[in-house]
Amino acid sequence: MLFSKKLNYKNSVHFDVNSLERGHHKLMYKGIPIIKCPFDYVMYQMIFWEIKPDLIIEIGTNRGGSALYYADLLDIIGHGEIHTIDIDDVVFKEVKMHKRIKFFRDGYQNYDLKNTEGFKKIIVIEDGSHTYDDVKATIGKFKSIVSVNSYLIVEDGILDKLGWKKKYNGGPNRAIKEFINQDDSYIIDRKWCDLFGINATFNTNGFLKKIK
Ligand SMILES: C[S@@+](CC[C@H](N)C(=O)[O-])C[C@H]1O[C@@H](n2cnc3c(N)ncnc32)[C@H](O)[C@@H]1O
Repeated sequence: MLFSKKLNYKNSVHFDVNSLERGHHKLMYKGIPIIKCPFDYVMYQMIFWEIKPDLIIEIGTNRGGSALYYADLLDIIGHGEIHTIDIDDVVFKEVKMHKRIKFFRDGYQNYDLKNTEGFKKIIVIEDGSHTYDDVKATIGKFKSIVSVNSYLIVEDGILDKLGWKKKYNGGPNRAIKEFINQDDSYIIDRKWCDLFGINATFNTNGFLKKIK
């Protein structure tokens, strides 16, 4: 009977990187898939509010949920553009139609840095293939155009903890470690990496702040 049915709930609480990984593939923004760790999802709006960027470059558009979320955040701030780059075009039309978003289809390798001329405050978010070679190459390509006091955010170093390090040839963490050890114009900003606990983010050690 409807009114005598007992609520069935669990008293235990359990989640970990594996359950977060499964869940983050089910996230949507305005009905469009956005593949984002929920901790990072909320940190992005804090970072954008702090930096108030003129330009956000996103490497790895996928369906475009993240680009649309970033663009709406820029609408709230009232300023800024997104250049989002992929090698595939599975991008929802609502994303392409947003007035703040420009979609580039030819991969980060063919993105012309001249497109960044005239923008002063620039954030770069690397969310592409996550292989060591690609992450290393994108850091190398984009590090100079990030503005001082802004961020080059490298996503998904968490893949080490998921047991996928070998598959990605060391992935983001290997590229970050090498970069930070040889370039003193960037630091790993622990303010974001450790906001919810030590590296409680999918972007482990990946919030790279340009300091000079
Ligand atoms: C993890 S998904 C991006 C997710 C998206 N940023 C989000 O949060 O919803 C990675 C994307 O990187 C793209 N990608 C792979 N190689 C690339 C390259 N060389 N340049 C740009 N994007 C690339 C893939 O096609 C894929 O769509």
